[in-house]
Amino acid sequence: MKVAVIGAGNLGMALIKNAMKNTEIIAVRRRIEKAQEMKGVEFANEIEGASEANIFLVALKPHVFRGHLELIGEVVKSKPLISFVAGVRLEEMLKHIENPFRAMTNLGIEERGVVACYPPETAEHLRFLEADYIYCETEDELDAMTSYLGSSPALIAKLFNAFVISALHQGISYNHALKAGISAFQSAAYLYSKYGLEKTIRKIATPGGTTAEGLRQIAGIEKGFIDALISASRRVDEL
Ligand SMILES: NC(=O)c1ccc[n+]([C@@H]2O[C@H](COP(=O)([O-])OP(=O)(O)OC[C@H]3O[C@@H](n4cnc5c(N)ncnc54)[C@H](OP(=O)(O)O)[C@@H]3O)[C@@H](O)[C@H]2O)c1
Repeated sequence: MKVAVIGAGNLGMALIKNAMKNTEIIAVRRRIEKAQEMKGVEFANEIEGASEANIFLVALKPHVFRGHLELIGEVVKSKPLISFVAGVRLEEMLKHIENPFRAMTNLGIEERGVVACYPPETAEHLRFLEADYIYCETEDELDAMTSYLGSSPALIAKLFNAFVISALHQGISYNHALKAGISAFQSAAYLYSKYGLEKTIRKIATPGGTTAEGLRQIAGIEKGFIDALISASRRVDEL
């Protein structure tokens, strides 16, 4: 089996690094001279160069995808095409693409990650990826995943960086701050999903202790984070 990735940029290359463990790849980008040699990955600088693939993933910028919908439809024919492009809806794709599906993920997919998909059967065409799936119930939910799955690692990296800076300020070395940060962010997600917020806090905080003092200060940051994610999510309607 061959999988074509049309748009081998930031997201396309992350998908390729994951998929190349299980399948041959045709990677399409304009400047193939910038591509690094990778085992099992053949580069093409024209979309037509992907025609022999069995499955097509698209990771182009939205305006580039829209500008090439007709050509892509001619190359793909009735084979499945899974678009990771923000904001381009199935209805728009169906004008030129016979068998379109939609998915969203983030750059963490290069190692292993989560792929949101719509409709749910999209996942059946992505079996070559080492991933877990979110089966979106509506296309609007998939669109919102652009922010909550696609962009959020950049926002959370800012929070992670704040954690590291704070630890450095308190005399912890950079490597130790990094290790503590990874543990703290992973543990927070684990404990929240297992016990919920209230029980997690009750188990960690002692009356009058360090956690309670930190919680008093963090209240202002929550609203900013909520607003940042909502603003990012609304932006998808304008793409
Ligand atoms: N970056 C993320 O974290 C992320 C996360 C989730 C979703 N996405 C979605 O993924 C899509 C791509 O984003 P990106 O950040 O990966 O963009 P990017 O790094 O700019 O990659 C776009 C790729 O498309 C190629 N390209 C442009 N015009 C082309 C053409 N006419 N024919 C063939 N290839 C062409 C570019 O090739 P050259 O480099 O050779 O010009 C580039 O490799 C967007 O729709 C975005 O919403 C991105």
